[in-house]
Amino acid sequence: METYLLLVDTFLETIMTLDKRTLGTAGLEVSAIGLGCMPMSQSYGPADETESIATLHRAIELGCTFFDTAEVYGPHTNEELLGKAFADRRDKVTIATKFGFRIENGKQIGVDRDSRPSNIRAAVEGSLRRLKTDHIDLLYQHRVDPNVPMEDVAGTVADLVKEGKVSYFGLSEAGVANIRRAHAVHPVSVVQSEYSLWERNLEADVIPALRELGIGLVPFSPLGRGFLTGTAKRAQDYPEGDFRRNDPRYQEGNFEANVRAAQSVIDIAGAKNVKPGQIALAWILHKAPDFVPIPGTKRRSYLEENVASAEIELSSDDMAALDTALAPENVSGQRYTAAMMAAVDR
Ligand SMILES: NC(=O)c1ccc[n+]([C@@H]2O[C@H](COP(=O)([O-])OP(=O)(O)OC[C@H]3O[C@@H](n4cnc5c(N)ncnc54)[C@H](OP(=O)(O)O)[C@@H]3O)[C@@H](O)[C@H]2O)c1
Repeated sequence: METYLLLVDTFLETIMTLDKRTLGTAGLEVSAIGLGCMPMSQSYGPADETESIATLHRAIELGCTFFDTAEVYGPHTNEELLGKAFADRRDKVTIATKFGFRIENGKQIGVDRDSRPSNIRAAVEGSLRRLKTDHIDLLYQHRVDPNVPMEDVAGTVADLVKEGKVSYFGLSEAGVANIRRAHAVHPVSVVQSEYSLWERNLEADVIPALRELGIGLVPFSPLGRGFLTGTAKRAQDYPEGDFRRNDPRYQEGNFEANVRAAQSVIDIAGAKNVKPGQIALAWILHKAPDFVPIPGTKRRSYLEENVASAEIELSSDDMAALDTALAPENVSGQRYTAAMMAAVDR
């Protein structure tokens, strides 16, 4: 029996080993699907540290070696978790972290931003310490800081690259003008912004600019914070502190309309005998060879399902049906509250 289980496990790992994708022109190579680590510390209900660490380790076994964290997740505790999990296997993982929100006495201050060079340096020293490493593979500015010229931000990151503390540079939720300004100072390898079946705001301007400049895209919240997995509940049914309690798309009225719009994902998944969330991830993977989604989870079962989505084939008819079903006019509600929208550079 044990030999049989071992064989099944080995077989699963053989078929589930992920391809690599290259992001940007500076040579950053990552697994085709990454792991969003934020739910292990905040936003989507309580997490169990043992299961979170088991999930991080299982990801490596499955070839999913691109891990997404940030100084502000927790704050700090998410990086500490990764430091604990990866201290003895640092060479097997690509770690992306982010600076740029104001944190005081261990608390995030609203959506205040702080990308002053002195704060970038302090954030990086803190991240290195918590991650128990001497270098960050990919360092993002989490949000554009309207008070600090992008040239100063990119220049500071360029210095950190020269010092060997950082390998690649990324931006999150930056608009086209700031992407260009940063890229002119130091190559931007990746832009990480929200992009999914139900959130297409990047298609008009940002994605064409990324194509032109040769920058990769890491779509965050690729599962619509869980909505696209077919398991969404109404806002009020999530516990206090869960992000979705205030998410406009989960509120009464919007919720029902969005459930109707997302039905086609469930139907296509049913026809292929796969899960709706897997269709949402496969859709991103089919959009471009340098798009790398980072579905977030704190449990092995979801991770395994998400990684397996790399095996799914979507025809051009499937893609067209999905494009239409969740086109912007069919999705109700903004992706963020007005306060959070104000921190987006577009
Ligand atoms: N740059 C930014 O500003 C920014 C903003 C948001 C997120 N991010 C990054 O992007 C990552 C992904 O985004 P996200 O976590 O917000 O949203 P997401 O990946 O769209 O969805 C995460 C939610 O979906 C659930 N889920 C995951 N896989 C599932 C499956 N197979 N079946 C059913 N449910 C599933 C998770 O459940 P469990 O929690 O129960 O596992 C979690 O509640 C984050 O973890 C974070 O690293 C970046």
